[in-house]
Amino acid sequence: MNPFQFHNPTRIMFGSGMLDQLGSAVSQYGSKVLLVYGGGSIKTTGLYDRIMRLLQQANVEVHELPGVEPNPRVSTVRKGISICREYSIPFILAVGGGSVLDAAKAIAVGVPYEGDIWDFFMRKADIHSALPLGTVLTLSATGSEMNGSAVITNWEDQLKKAIGSIHCYPAFSILDPALTYTVPRNQTVNGIVDMMSHVFEQYFSRTTNTPLQERFCESILQTVIENGEKALHNPEHEEARANLMLCGTYALNGGMISVGMENDWATHMIEHEVSAIYDIAHAEGLSVLFPNWMKYVYKERLDRFVQFAVRVWQVDPAGKSDEQIALEGIQATRDYFTRIGAPSRLSELNIDAKELDRMAKETVRFGPVGSFKALHESDVRSILEMSL
Ligand code: NZQ
Ligand code: ZN
Repeated sequence: MNPFQFHNPTRIMFGSGMLDQLGSAVSQYGSKVLLVYGGGSIKTTGLYDRIMRLLQQANVEVHELPGVEPNPRVSTVRKGISICREYSIPFILAVGGGSVLDAAKAIAVGVPYEGDIWDFFMRKADIHSALPLGTVLTLSATGSEMNGSAVITNWEDQLKKAIGSIHCYPAFSILDPALTYTVPRNQTVNGIVDMMSHVFEQYFSRTTNTPLQERFCESILQTVIENGEKALHNPEHEEARANLMLCGTYALNGGMISVGMENDWATHMIEHEVSAIYDIAHAEGLSVLFPNWMKYVYKERLDRFVQFAVRVWQVDPAGKSDEQIALEGIQATRDYFTRIGAPSRLSELNIDAKELDRMAKETVRFGPVGSFKALHESDVRSILEMSL
């Protein structure tokens, strides 16, 4: 285990009834708020009206930024920054999925910064401050509700890049599983794949002597596997939605489950370049790429893949070589993704070989990706090719 520091400043308000505390939670930060939301799901579900009522009761003046896109655009972030500056808004409230939360985080760091927000994503500037923000999560997937990351797309340049900063952690996040009952089937599938992928990025590590962290990871994977299918079968399954929500949050909350471990993140970096060009859902790309990444790297640490197969997928090791066991675990991952309806080939997403070179090159813009096995441009290209 490596030395580590862990600090997560987000207050989690989990469970039914927590939304009622929204007014007092927001009014601690001032009397004005920028309400950031997506393409309209919060209006059709009635959540918008509830939020407006709660904020009015708390005498909070509401300014709005609607229309945050899945794969949120930097142009939308810039609009939010302008509104905050024009009306001297001290606090941001994001209501939605990861895209809305990420856009809100980028607005929060952009307001006090004199240059253009995209500088942070191109690593031309460091983040030193941000407006505080709170979130009401409506989709279990990214973990953005309890982490310091934001992923934003620059559609003009077809780039999708991430920032991470202690200043981007939400001050509070309200997690009411009932708010996820209306999430459509395909987005529930995406959420399952994304949270599992977040665990993979941490679990497949070269660091040794991390038994607790490995078991954290394995329990999250098993809980997602069990509850994912229950939620797909019955979207209003209270316990399944609650368990998925907690799993999504823990799967990526500043590295709590993998403290003292090296993380990988190569597959995420590759996927971001796929969705930057093709505008597919993040988890559709991950579903295709992750089992192929596994096949490409499993020999780096066969023991971890054997453990994964046996503990997570209950592969019976009797009479099999380590390699056979590892490969069965990878196949079980692919089979689960397929069973819940996630894609297994880029061609299912109408992606052909045309942009492979560009995606591979852009993935390694800031150097090789991944630590389980450092991937160079040619490795990334190979994984993309396996995925066609
Ligand atoms: O836009 P609206 O109308 O709200 O509809 C959304 C959207 O169309 C809909 N939705 C959300 N909650 C709903 C709902 N529909 C009905 N009922 C509800 N309760 O779902 C659609 C997808 O929403 P989105 O926010 O895009 O999904 P997700 O949470 O999966 O976020 C994906 C984005 O997060 C980034 C991804 O790259 C992608 O841009 N990521 C962010 C991370 C982070 N901040 O830590 C890490 C992840 O790895 C990921 O990269
Ligand atoms: Zn992800």
